[in-house]
Amino acid sequence: MHRRLIVPGVLAASLLLTVPASAADHSPGSAGIGDPYYPASGNGGYDVSHYDLRLAYQPGSDLLEGTATLIAAAEQDLSRFNLDFGLKVSEVRVNGKKARFETSGSHELEVTPAAPLAKGSPFTVVVRYADKPSEVKIDGYTAWARTPDGGIAAQEPESAAWWYPSNDHPLDKATYDVSVSVPDGTQAISNGVLTSQSSQLGRTRFNWRSDKPQATYLTTLAIGKFDITRDTTADGLPIVNAYSKDLGANAGAARASVERTGEVAEWLSDQFGPYPFNAVGGYVPNVTSGFALETQTRPFYSPKQFAKGANTSVVVHELAHQWYGDSVSVNGWKDIWLNEGFASYAEWLWSEKEGEGTARELADYTYAQYPADDPFWTVRPGDPGPDNQFDAAVYDRGALAIQALREKVGDDDFFAILKGWPAAHAYGNAKIADFVNYAEKISGEPLSQLFDTWLYQPSKPDAAGARS
Ligand code: ARG
Ligand code: ZN
Repeated sequence: MHRRLIVPGVLAASLLLTVPASAADHSPGSAGIGDPYYPASGNGGYDVSHYDLRLAYQPGSDLLEGTATLIAAAEQDLSRFNLDFGLKVSEVRVNGKKARFETSGSHELEVTPAAPLAKGSPFTVVVRYADKPSEVKIDGYTAWARTPDGGIAAQEPESAAWWYPSNDHPLDKATYDVSVSVPDGTQAISNGVLTSQSSQLGRTRFNWRSDKPQATYLTTLAIGKFDITRDTTADGLPIVNAYSKDLGANAGAARASVERTGEVAEWLSDQFGPYPFNAVGGYVPNVTSGFALETQTRPFYSPKQFAKGANTSVVVHELAHQWYGDSVSVNGWKDIWLNEGFASYAEWLWSEKEGEGTARELADYTYAQYPADDPFWTVRPGDPGPDNQFDAAVYDRGALAIQALREKVGDDDFFAILKGWPAAHAYGNAKIADFVNYAEKISGEPLSQLFDTWLYQPSKPDAAGARS
């Protein structure tokens, strides 16, 4: 294809040249998608619709190798584009042809295709790589957790760069096929449905498919020796749970909690509307960390969460995120309250249903826990800053904000909002302001002052005032 190139400059002002399509009239995609909390996260200029990851892992040496195939479309005329990736790459192809690549910044892979990409055109990227993810540090840190029998990728806001190249931001969701080969006797767990499993030459390959839009950080990989349970919910949804064989004293409590996944998902469907994905479940690997993560269809739980006995709250929390966080994702990371406030509030609703304290009682208790001079109140849940993204204020004050909304608009409108919001933005992205507008639309009440008080003021709200 030939294009007209307008050569800038005084002498060339009116000179029109016809030249073959080249990088000259295309520009590089930006190295970040434009999130002020994480300027290097994601990339500009293209959108990925599907990831196909075909990997092999050696638990003994932590070697992860394979190919990632990305189906994408150019959103501008692209001379080159970036992927977010930290592992060693041996080859990149774009539309089948070898592409130049180099690494820059902390985890940017700059790809220059043999031919530029025209805006709107679909393209395919193949990246071949091999590395030991536990040894790969990005900003001094690895999100890959090596365990005695395998390795786990589960972190927020970023985990992908330690195991596959991506456009690593929730604004660019895609579907996934994840195929992983491991030694016989070891399992590989990922998102969605296990479409097939086969063994040969002493190795077993697990093929997982997640067929709804999925954010990069919600894509997980767990390799290890697991006990796997399978069931189906009353709605016909496949349930797959996996427990490390190495959970020690926490094994019973982990099962007593995570085996309630089907029951919890059905109850949440009554609160939030139809379950958005093709499978449900959870996995508990033998990690030493203490957090959980709402990895899509299959949350990650750490054994520590079950150290004091069964913990259905954490199961409710991570499954609530399937609607609030996974189907409806943040537009930027400052919108994290849309995830954590609602997942925390779901725990209060569960408590209310279980007769262990109403949401109102738990809100009063939580409010009283933090005196007015506690630094807790200086963190603004509506814009906490990257260092406080997972601060208790985002969770606890975030849930208090939702209780304040409930008391302002009444239960009928409140539960209509809780159920309507995930449908209004299913599989998309939203900002806090979108939620405020939506709640105002459903309730017919002006709510900007209430949300300003609860989400944006660096001080303890007057509870009584906010409830009036
Ligand atoms: N979204 C997760 C949860 O609420 C939080 C993960 C935070 N990450 C961490 N390393 N603590 O369950
Ligand atoms: Zn959460």
